Amino acid sequence: MLHGPNLNLLGLREPGIYGSMTLIQIDESLKLRGSELQVGVDCLQSNHEGVLVDAIHNAREKYQGILINAGAYTHTSVAIRDALAGVAIPTVEVHLSNIYTRENFRHHSYIAPIAIGQISGFGADSYLLGLQALVNYLSGVRH
Ligand code: DQA
Repeated sequence: MLHGPNLNLLGLREPGIYGSMTLIQIDESLKLRGSELQVGVDCLQSNHEGVLVDAIHNAREKYQGILINAGAYTHTSVAIRDALAGVAIPTVEVHLSNIYTRENFRHHSYIAPIAIGQISGFGADSYLLGLQALVNYLSGVRH
């Protein structure tokens, strides 16, 4: 699980948009759901694009899938998109808010075209839905 910039402020940051759960609580919920699904989940948050690019490179041969909320880098970062495409690890993009009902600049995602899919607008549930979708994809389950 990769969290991009400003997501360390979850709980405090614009709670009307992003909800009241903290990043620690979201990570705990992902690890718990992961253990129910019998998969391990490691989580990293960074406010720095290069740290996220390095983490994506280092995911090669270590992780089978990537769940990412790239925060504002979703809308700006060709580098993160190229890193994800470069390692070719199946990726699910998630967002707490529905990026398509917000400002125009949030409507474009550089990540969406190279992701398996995107889940946007379900608050903290977006992460759990994204994890479920990624695990289903990796296990070959299609509904
Ligand atoms: C976000 C949406 C982005 O537009 C914003 O920059 C974020 C959070 C979300 O989860 O809703 O930081 O990715």
